[in-house]
Amino acid sequence: MPRKIHPTKKYGGTISVPGDKSIGHRAALLSILSKGDIKIINFPRNADCLRSLEAARAFGVRVSEQDGIMRLSPPETLTIAPDTLIECGNSATTARLLFGIIAGSNLTVTLSGDDSLSRRPMARVIEPLSAMGAEVFSKENKLPVKISGKKLLPFDYELPIPSAQVKSAVLLAGLASSCSVNVREKTITRDHTEIMLEQLGEGVEVREIKPVMVQDPVDPRKKKMHMPESFKKEIRITSQTRVNGGTVDIPGDFSTAAFFMAGAAVSKKTITIENVGLNPTRTGFLDYLRAAGCKVEITEKRTVSGELRGSVTVTGGELKARKIAGDSVVELIDEIPALSVVAAFADGTTVIRDAGELRAKESDRLEAITENLKLMGVKCGVLEDGLAIEGRRELTAADFKSFGDHRIAMAFSVASLFLIGPSSIDNPDIVEISCPGFYSLLDKVTA
Ligand code: S3P
Repeated sequence: MPRKIHPTKKYGGTISVPGDKSIGHRAALLSILSKGDIKIINFPRNADCLRSLEAARAFGVRVSEQDGIMRLSPPETLTIAPDTLIECGNSATTARLLFGIIAGSNLTVTLSGDDSLSRRPMARVIEPLSAMGAEVFSKENKLPVKISGKKLLPFDYELPIPSAQVKSAVLLAGLASSCSVNVREKTITRDHTEIMLEQLGEGVEVREIKPVMVQDPVDPRKKKMHMPESFKKEIRITSQTRVNGGTVDIPGDFSTAAFFMAGAAVSKKTITIENVGLNPTRTGFLDYLRAAGCKVEITEKRTVSGELRGSVTVTGGELKARKIAGDSVVELIDEIPALSVVAAFADGTTVIRDAGELRAKESDRLEAITENLKLMGVKCGVLEDGLAIEGRRELTAADFKSFGDHRIAMAFSVASLFLIGPSSIDNPDIVEISCPGFYSLLDKVTA
């Protein structure tokens, strides 16, 4: 049933959001390859992370809980029942990370997904894992896929697309097969996998390449910045790399928090989100908010389990349009639905480029955002790799479509709070993919 959402005059307060989905997946799935127990504080019980937890159970991981702390106890030896099918639901992170784990194990497993996940591209993991020696059977590189793990070959790989899921799949394949893997990134993607491997294990080497000052060949009196390598980051594991186990304390999910920050930006009010993840590979949305005219304050900054976290306070201001393009898009890729809602209320035309990946998310997000913005009365042009959004002050209520996509549902639920008249969102339960308590939090910030 669609959910009605009424406009509000009240907005703000202090909240915390559930644990980070990306980190939750990794903590659950790494338990499959760990030598010792992994304890997880603040595991997010959203539908996606529960898929990863179920997958870990299928590999024999025992799950117990005491005093709110989850304990994942890996099996002595990695086995799985013959012909096991693991249902990944809507979760691409579950599927693509499992690809790596299975490819590097001596096991045969079939992965399947819901309609949305079955449409999403898997060639990005199938190609490198096949090159390492895994056998993969699929129709047109989509789920369902049968993977026959093998003893893999050492692998040296430069990511052809900036994808943390692909990076993680290749690293986990190496870890499962005890073979060396060297992954290079031209664009730095979220680094939760390498952080967790460093925290829970040994034998991971991460090298970030920084630009250096060199003499300008054209004018030797001048100096200029130069990248000494053609890539920005390199992650190496070897046959000795292992996960020993330990504790992972998960911060609030920045990508969920972003929807509540967007509400503050649009309403010109103030919201504080406590204990939220601030990993710099994830927080490009804060830079956008500042550039668009909001005030952003960060307090209580600290590192826990290798991940930066803190409290973020956002106060909305006079919003102006910005251009978002290039490498920085990766740092806010999941926030573009929230960003588009802010852009709809900004002065001028916000242009987003280099975001073609949005077509391969839970929905074609470029089309989904455009369709919903148009319903509100916003002029929005859809480009091959982005959007052009012409902001307006007074926007009308609408019956929004979620397109079966949790982030589209959350973005347009927040937009609905600031439109003229009551709106509705179809399939509101889809928010459970990443944030089951989303509507209670929305009630709290508008009470
Ligand atoms: C994720 C990586 C990103 C992101 C997704 C979660 C992860 O996808 O958009 O929501 O947890 O590794 P890509 O790897 O496809 O860029």
